[in-house]
Amino acid sequence: MIEMPGVVADVVRSVGLSTAMKAAGVVTGLIPIPQPVLLVGPGASARLGEAVAGFRHRRVMVVTDAAVAVRGLAKPFLRALARGGTEHVLFDAVTADAPIPVIERGVALFRKRACDAIVAIGGGSPMDAAKVIAYAAANGKSPAALAGYFKGLRSPCPIYAVPTTAGTGSEVTVAAVISDPERGKKLVVADTRLVPAMAALDPELHAGLPPDVTAATGMDALTHAVEAFLGQWASEATDRLALAATGLVFAHLRTAQRSPRSLAAREHMALAATWAGLAFTRANVGYVHALAHQVGARYHVPHGLANAILLPHVLRALGPAVSKRLAILAVRAGAAAEGERPATAARRFIEAVEALNRDLAIPTAMPGLREEDIPALAKAACHEADTSYPVPKYLSPAECEAILRHVLPARAGPARKRRTAAASHREARPATRRRPGAGSGR
Ligand SMILES: NC(=O)c1ccc[n+]([C@@H]2O[C@H](COP(=O)([O-])OP(=O)(O)OC[C@H]3O[C@@H](n4cnc5c(N)ncnc54)[C@H](O)[C@@H]3O)[C@@H](O)[C@H]2O)c1
Ligand SMILES: [Fe+2]
Repeated sequence: MIEMPGVVADVVRSVGLSTAMKAAGVVTGLIPIPQPVLLVGPGASARLGEAVAGFRHRRVMVVTDAAVAVRGLAKPFLRALARGGTEHVLFDAVTADAPIPVIERGVALFRKRACDAIVAIGGGSPMDAAKVIAYAAANGKSPAALAGYFKGLRSPCPIYAVPTTAGTGSEVTVAAVISDPERGKKLVVADTRLVPAMAALDPELHAGLPPDVTAATGMDALTHAVEAFLGQWASEATDRLALAATGLVFAHLRTAQRSPRSLAAREHMALAATWAGLAFTRANVGYVHALAHQVGARYHVPHGLANAILLPHVLRALGPAVSKRLAILAVRAGAAAEGERPATAARRFIEAVEALNRDLAIPTAMPGLREEDIPALAKAACHEADTSYPVPKYLSPAECEAILRHVLPARAGPARKRRTAAASHREARPATRRRPGAGSGR
């Protein structure tokens, strides 16, 4: 067999994958995705409790984590549910990234207590755990066997969500991200029937979010919006949502962190996360998530934090292929004026993301990242992106390795980082492979 030279192989791979992704985009663009009824504003979680009680479920399982439960964030919902005469079972054992063994315990409790509906109250971890508990219980399958698209035959019981972080958008998405601690991997379970029937965006529940969680989860929302906007599956509808979310994050995330009890800022951030969720559940994500999933699984870096650190570096690595689209985001972020040269506006957008990270006290280095792990992490990220995401331009494993080296702890000192990041990205870029048609600015 003749081996193709590296560059040719890369081009063949990039063209082939691009065509396959476009075809998949046509298909997924046609699949109906339900949208939850949204209750928004202070007191929304109690209103959801009243509504759920009205549906006369036999027994509702409430899925949360210990910290959320201790803070009493489930109380308004539970009181309203009890007033309406509906019983509940509390499962507050979820831990970060919804590990499979925890989900299995949840499934056992769901079955034992003959529950017929699930309410998630918490961040992405409890919301995703709840989705998979419902799905696994309905299908008699292990959580790992449900990883992938539409792996369960039967529909889950009704799912309701009360997000207590403003980031993942899981309250409106088809996905649940779970983790396999034994293999050090994150798995995505996706099915349109995992979209909650109703969700409550209640800013009062967000007022006690610690500054670091506010920052990381808010940057997760921004990353969803940006990656949905740049990918090949973006449409007019997802663009509107992604742009709205981007504007809201730049306008309100700093305030949400500095004045945590500002309900206006909290509500705007909750909406940003939801709009971004609606955008990416259709248009999907890209290399930032592909890389963040690897470092999240390996070093337990919080998901939003990993995204925040990687976002500017991935945008630089994508280069001119995304300039026109970044220029549009820059205007919405208030970082550039309309009509500015795309390359200049794109640079301003990336700098605005870095400035936002700095103001939010997000570090420039990836906690725990080790040089010797980089090749395997980059390879796994490329595999995830190649097989799952409609990225605007394909990056080689070498380019992904370069991105990770930019955030190596020893290398990424804050001040030095700022001065040299753009220049060193230019150095790392020569092996670039452009997808035909990329850079047309779609
Ligand atoms: N399903 C999706 O579409 C989707 C999208 C993006 C990310 N995710 C996944 O979601 C998970 C991350 O979710 P997350 O970022 O929301 O974090 P999380 O749910 O793990 O919560 C982070 C921390 O914040 C605490 N917390 C939550 N709400 C609080 C509140 N109101 N006040 C005080 N503390 C609070 C939690 O107890 C926890 O310690 C990851 O596994 C990620 O992969 C899923
Ligand atoms: Fe995310």
